[in-house]
Amino acid sequence: MRTINVGLIGFGTVGSGTAEVLLQQAARLERRTGFQLRLKSVADIYVDRLPDHFKDTRLVKDAKQIFTDPEIDIVVELIGGIEPARTFILEAIKHGKHVVTANKALISQYGMEIFQAAAAKNVEVGFEASVGGGIPVIKSLKEGLAANRILSIMGIMNGTANYILNKMTDEGVPFQEVLKEAQAKGFAEADPTYDVEGIDTAHKLVILMTMAYGMEIKLSDITIEGISNIDPIDIDFARDFGFRIKLLAISNNHGDHVEARVHPTMVPEHHMLANIGGAYNGIHFQGDMVGNVLLYGLGAGKMPTGSAVVADVVDISRNIVNNAVNRVPSLSYLPDQIKPGRITPMEDLRCPFYFRISALDKPGVLSTLAGILGNNGICIKSVIQKGRQKGGVVPVVIRTYEASESSVQKALAEIDSLDICPEKTVKIRILQDEQDSQA
Ligand code: HSE
Repeated sequence: MRTINVGLIGFGTVGSGTAEVLLQQAARLERRTGFQLRLKSVADIYVDRLPDHFKDTRLVKDAKQIFTDPEIDIVVELIGGIEPARTFILEAIKHGKHVVTANKALISQYGMEIFQAAAAKNVEVGFEASVGGGIPVIKSLKEGLAANRILSIMGIMNGTANYILNKMTDEGVPFQEVLKEAQAKGFAEADPTYDVEGIDTAHKLVILMTMAYGMEIKLSDITIEGISNIDPIDIDFARDFGFRIKLLAISNNHGDHVEARVHPTMVPEHHMLANIGGAYNGIHFQGDMVGNVLLYGLGAGKMPTGSAVVADVVDISRNIVNNAVNRVPSLSYLPDQIKPGRITPMEDLRCPFYFRISALDKPGVLSTLAGILGNNGICIKSVIQKGRQKGGVVPVVIRTYEASESSVQKALAEIDSLDICPEKTVKIRILQDEQDSQA
């Protein structure tokens, strides 16, 4: 029986999970592929010995020993971050190795360099585990949805942020406390600001947009807002209005330009994405032929992410054995068919809004606020003032009908400069609902 040799760089959470999946599923993988997938070597500078059951795997300190080993067919990079991961991957490709990675930060920023290097050496780069953990989202886009023009992408793609928002919503636990819990559970990034500030979600959106539209999308194309400014009071108001706050990645395809944004969003509580809990991810595509598709599952964690890494190893191995390397282009479109991305300016976006204005509790304030919104063409749907603080500051919560981002920016700049509004207004976009559109 033919053997495909795998070398793994990085034996942390996902690395050790990948090794476990390869070992635990060895017999099943053989039955599915007709060959043996052997984890020949693992490189990790922090690990002194592998668990006893990896008796056929060699542990080395230097990653070079993996990518220069002539026996190794596939190098799996699971150390994360930009360097030295980028150098290791480029070196592996230079040595004619196929590569599998879960590194979304790297693929979203240096993907083109890596894919070009791989094309020049006719090797494959698999990155299923970079988006949605164990959910087969990349394969769905590349293969299952190949017959579609993708009209929109919308999703919860960061389990840490979702876990935090859910705990704040359901149990009223403060932000910092929930963040600590998420870190202890092992699904937060090494730098958790990536999770809570929306950067990790943006990395994933870059990858999905590039593959969905066949466009070169850059991280700087994405408008990014995180959840660290979400106050429990906003969660309560959202609940009063029948919404839940979620950190969403959103891209609508307008044909000659595409939206690219990550921000907290008020989602109607009956919406499928509103009900994705804990560390789960949910990614929704709309295709022109298939209609709506929702992929749901664990977006992080040792074994789910290991499952996605091994799926790539299996795909590449099958292509090696069947002389069909690059049967499916890495980015779903042929490399010479990837066009420059054209991004919808954020100012042109239209959606309903939630504002929490901190205003003095005195007569005439509300009419001033309503006047400014009206003068900027923003139509109010409802207003709530909670509490009474004669002369003090109270939250005035305003929900609008669909309004343009540019008029909202202008109106809020005006409101925030008023003496009667001593604190910056909190603005949260509301997921577009048909009933909310103005005629
Ligand atoms: N930090 C990520 C998350 C891990 O919380 O979803 C998977 O990319």
